[in-house]
Amino acid sequence: MRIDSKTTVVGVIGYPVAHSLSPQMHNAAIQSLGINWCYLPFQVAPEDLAKAIQGMRGLGIRGLNVTVPHKQAVVRLLDWVSPEASAVRAVNTISNEGGRLEGYNTDVEGILAALRLGVGLEKLPEKVVVLGAGGAARGIVYALTTVTDVRNIVILNRTVQKAERLAAEMENMAKGKTRIKGRKLETETARVELREAGLLINATPVGMYPNVNCSPIEVSSVFHPRLTLVDTIYNPKETKLMRLARSQGAKCFNGLDMLVYQGAKSLEIWTQRRAPVKVMKEAVMELAPQPSALGQF
Ligand SMILES: NC(=O)c1ccc[n+]([C@@H]2O[C@H](COP(=O)([O-])OP(=O)(O)OC[C@H]3O[C@@H](n4cnc5c(N)ncnc54)[C@H](OP(=O)(O)O)[C@@H]3O)[C@@H](O)[C@H]2O)c1
Repeated sequence: MRIDSKTTVVGVIGYPVAHSLSPQMHNAAIQSLGINWCYLPFQVAPEDLAKAIQGMRGLGIRGLNVTVPHKQAVVRLLDWVSPEASAVRAVNTISNEGGRLEGYNTDVEGILAALRLGVGLEKLPEKVVVLGAGGAARGIVYALTTVTDVRNIVILNRTVQKAERLAAEMENMAKGKTRIKGRKLETETARVELREAGLLINATPVGMYPNVNCSPIEVSSVFHPRLTLVDTIYNPKETKLMRLARSQGAKCFNGLDMLVYQGAKSLEIWTQRRAPVKVMKEAVMELAPQPSALGQF
């Protein structure tokens, strides 16, 4: 990679940021596009967020991805946010348009692309269960409200009040198209809600490396062969939740496609060129550990 005075800088801000696979994924894409760009990770503590965003203007950084814990706090620091980001109230991509900072939420596009590839948007079931009520769940529930056939969403969360609040907010936004309720994440509630559900999406970090022996649902008997599971975790490639669901005949996908497609959409916003999705996917797959390595990394 050549770095000179004409190199365009893009990157990711987070705290911490060391775990992010985005630098490898985006630099592989940049190389494949043959452009004089460079993607860097920036560790930014919450108290430094405003200075970092101001620095983006000052340094002429072309674009930034925004990850935990800044996705919501960054919204008020921008000049414009897209309708999707505004609905989700979180930004994961900033585009610097000559000093005007625009915010987007490409996680919405990422989950829709993952569902399109894995299941087919036209084949999505009427009822979907989402685990978690944090930033990722917000984007996922919003994305699901835009899918015609999805009429019933149940959000299961450890803190039930957060699930109820998110459900009320998103149901209001769906204007009667989708019924959404929030309940506590417990085995028996999951069993009842999953009985009629065709899709389960895990938007909690439970089971993510290094806690690979944990699962947000610990009992395999709640799953069934009519169910598709999308676990947004991509490290490890197969989570314990996926193993439990697969043992009952459910079809399972991890979060790799979501990661790749949200990144591809960000790159397209910055470069106005089609992102090399295959290259990006290969770069990420090279880094994410194999299922056989579970517990060893
Ligand atoms: N594939 C992708 O591209 C992609 C993109 C974004 C996120 N993700 C995944 O989504 C995960 C969540 O991200 P986020 O931004 O939504 O985080 P977040 O805002 O911190 O929310 C975390 C959610 O998980 C729940 N949770 C955390 N620890 C738990 C535990 N031990 N038991 C039960 N529930 C627990 C929290 O419940 P409480 O409300 O009770 O605290 C909350 O609902 C990430 O860790 C990542 O794996 C993947």
